[in-house]
Formats: sequence, structure tokens, C-alpha cells
Amino acid sequence: MKLSINIDHVATLRQQRREKYPDPVSAAIICEKVGVDGIVCHLREDRRHIQDRDVFLLRDTLKTKFDLEMGASEEIIKIALQVVPDLVTLVPEKREELTTEGGLNILSQKDYLKKTISRFHEKNIPVSLFVEPDKNVIEVSKLIGCDFVELHTGVYANATTKEEIEIKLKQISEAAQFANSIGLKVNAGHGLDYTNILPIIKLNSIYEVSIGYSVITRALFVGLEKAVREMLNLVKGI
Ligand code: PXP
Repeated sequence: MKLSINIDHVATLRQQRREKYPDPVSAAIICEKVGVDGIVCHLREDRRHIQDRDVFLLRDTLKTKFDLEMGASEEIIKIALQVVPDLVTLVPEKREELTTEGGLNILSQKDYLKKTISRFHEKNIPVSLFVEPDKNVIEVSKLIGCDFVELHTGVYANATTKEEIEIKLKQISEAAQFANSIGLKVNAGHGLDYTNILPIIKLNSIYEVSIGYSVITRALFVGLEKAVREMLNLVKGI
């Protein structure tokens, strides 16, 4: 399984003081040095963490894969088409949310998303849709032309009882197998940490996980290099 690190929260800390540091681009370089497979950041409309300058600099700097997470608004689409990341991950975006709260409502904006995906494909940019682990939604995602789905693992991560965790894990497992069976690659992310990642690794049907908060916050105590290495070793089964 591959590991991409989401560096949004390095930028969150920088924006807290509107300083020049800590620089998410420097964080990305450290993550790459440790050996991660890619870097993710989310350019939000309200620019609460990642700034336009970051995405252009990341494009110029990264040697691995650059996954630009974004809402499908015209302003951000235009920036993404200029940046040409290696992958675009479309997510729902609400100004009042603390973080992305769930998968895209694909059914209500099918035509718009289909058009948006083809605009990225014209520039040879593959597109991933962040979705709930739901067969119907995954089927429609495939129909409108996406290349990947990223399964929302937040509900699984927030589950507290053993039974609930098992149910949510089974949903992710079945959704991943279904998506693979119709030719979609499957990423997963949201709320994954050093503990709840273990059953996800065992599923063997996830191409890549995207992890931010748990790694960036652990870095405060053990340093970024060690925090990333610990997660990378888990993901790679080392
Ligand atoms: N994947 C998506 C689509 C997300 O929106 C986020 C949060 O920005 C993540 C993965 C990473 O989640 P976390 O920061 O909880 O690891």
C-alpha cells in the first residue's frame, strides 16, 4: 500500500500567526526524504491553511506524486488547471466545517462533476472522487469518468465499539472490492492514525492512504522525520 502525507496542518500553524513558517513545502521535502509515495494538500476557498503560493511551489519542488485536494469551485478548478498536479481529489467543502465532513454528494451534481472531470482529463490530470463507502455512489463515480475513488474512513475512525468498528471496516472492505472490480483504483483517508490504520492495511484492496492530522501532530513530540517513518513502516509492513 502507498502512503501520501497531507501537510495542511503545517500550514494551519503558519496561518495562525500569518508568519512565513512553518513552511508546508519544507515539511513536504522532509516527508519525501523519509520515502513517502506522495504529498497531499487541500487548497480551500477560504485559504485557511494552504495558500496559492504553496501549491505552485509544491508543483515545482516535489519529486513524488502531488495530489491536490479541492472543492469543485470554478476559482479553484482554474488554479488546479494551471498547477497541473499528478492527481486531483475532489471533496465537498463547507466554510463552517473544521475539516472535510464526508464524501461528495455525487448523485445531486453528476453532470457538473462529469464536466469537471473531463476538463482535468483534457490536461491529462487523473481525478479521484472522495466518497462514502457506498456501492451506488461508487458505480455513479465510475460512470461519470473518475479514475480513483477515495473512500471516506472518518466514520470508521470515529467508531468506538468493537461491533461498530467491524461494521464500518466491512463497509470499507466491500466498497473497495466493488470499486476494484469495476476498474477503479481505491484510495482511503480521513481520521487514520497509528492504530486504526492496521486493519485497513490488512484489507489488501486499498491502493493508497492519505494521512495528515495524526502524523503532523505526532511530529510536535517526536519530530516530523520520525513521525512519518513510523507511519511509513506500518503501511509498508516493515
Ligand atoms: N483525505 C481527504 C479527502 C481529506 O479531506 C483529508 C483531510 O484533509 C484527509 C484525507 C486526511 O485526513 P486526516 O488529516 O484526518 O488524516
